[in-house]
Amino acid sequence: MIPVPTASPPLDAANLSAVRRALDRRLQLMRAGLHQAKVFVVVNGKGGVGKSSLAAALAVAWAKAGLRVGLVEMDEQGNNGEDLGFTGSVLADGGQAQAAAILDGKRLTPTGQVRPRLSVFPGGPVLEDVLEELYCQRRAARRADDPAGRLAWMGMYAAAIDAVRDDYDVIILDVAPGSEPLQLQALVAGDYVLIPSKSDPSSRKGLRTVARRFGQARDMNPLLRLLGVVVFATNSSASKVQTNIKEQLVGDLRGSAPVFEQVIRYVESAAVACRTEGKVPQELRTSAAIAPAVRRSMAALAGDYQSLAMEIMQAKSAADRTASANQEEAA
Ligand SMILES: Nc1ncnc2c1ncn2[C@@H]1O[C@H](COP(=O)(O)OP(=O)(O)OP(=O)(O)O)[C@@H](O)[C@H]1O
Ligand SMILES: [Mg+2]
Repeated sequence: MIPVPTASPPLDAANLSAVRRALDRRLQLMRAGLHQAKVFVVVNGKGGVGKSSLAAALAVAWAKAGLRVGLVEMDEQGNNGEDLGFTGSVLADGGQAQAAAILDGKRLTPTGQVRPRLSVFPGGPVLEDVLEELYCQRRAARRADDPAGRLAWMGMYAAAIDAVRDDYDVIILDVAPGSEPLQLQALVAGDYVLIPSKSDPSSRKGLRTVARRFGQARDMNPLLRLLGVVVFATNSSASKVQTNIKEQLVGDLRGSAPVFEQVIRYVESAAVACRTEGKVPQELRTSAAIAPAVRRSMAALAGDYQSLAMEIMQAKSAADRTASANQEEAA
C-alpha cells in the first residue's frame, strides 16, 4: 500500500526563498564556469514515444560503463519500475521521495539501487500532489511583484536536484508527456535535453511544444542545451526514409539541434519482453528467458541502445567543450 500524504502543505515563504537562494547559487556557479553539466531531460509533449524506454536503457548503459547514475521519474505512471523490474518492491515508493523533497523541503533521496551504481527516484500516484502544488504555485506566482518572484516556482525541482548533484555523474529525468508545469520544472533543472520522437505528425507536434518550453526555461537556466532528437521505433530500415524523417525533425526544431545518427528500431515483441522481464534490451540479448524467435531482434535493439548511449556521451562532451570555450572567450 502506497502511503499518500494527507495534505500537502503550501510552499511557504521560507521554502520559496530557499528555492530562490538555490537558483541564485546555481547562476553564480554558471557564471564562474563551475557548474558541472550532468542532468539529461528526456522529454516530448507526446505520450508513448519511447521516453521511459530510452531513459531506462541509457541509465543501465551508463551505470554499466562505470558512471554513478540517478534516474528520476517525473511521471505518475511509474513505468521505470516496469522497465527496470522493481514494481511492487520496497523500492517503488509511488513518488513519495520526490513529494517529500518538493513539498516538504526534505533532501531528495533515492529509494535504492536497482543495478550497481544506478539509483532510482521513482514516479507514481503520489506525484499527483506535487502536480497540484505546482499548479497552485504557478497561480500564486502571477501575483508576485518582481520578475524573479514570478519565475521562482519553476525552480522547485532544480533546487531539489542541485542539492544532490554531487552524488552522481549523470542524472536522467524521465518527464511525463502531458504536464506543462512538470516539463518546465525539468527543463529548469536540466543541462541537456533529449527528445525522443516518432515520425508521425502528433509526435512532431509534441516535439515543437517542447522546443517552445525550452525557450521559456532558458530564461532561468541559460546553460540549458538541446542535445538532440532520438528517432524512435522507426519500422523502416531504408536509409532514404530515415534521412527524410531526420530532415523533417531538424526542420521542426529550425535546425537548433541535430538528430542522432543512431535510431531505435521498432520491435514490439522485444519491447514487450523487456517490460515483462523488467530488464532493458542490453540485459536480455542472450537471455534464456527470451523466446529464440525474439532473441535476434532483442540483440539488434540492444545494439541500437548501446551505440546511441555512446553517441549521446560524445555529443555531451562536444557540447561541454563548446561551452567552456565560450566561457573562456567571455572571461
Ligand atoms: N523499440 C520498440 N519498438 C516497439 N515498441 C516499443 C519499443 N520500445 C518501447 N516500445 C513500446 O512503446 C510503448 C511506449 O514506450 P515508452 O513507455 O517508453 O514511451 P513513453 O514516451 O515513456 O510513454 P509515456 O508518454 O506514456 O510515458 C510501450 O508500450 C513500450 O513497450
Ligand atoms: Mg514514460
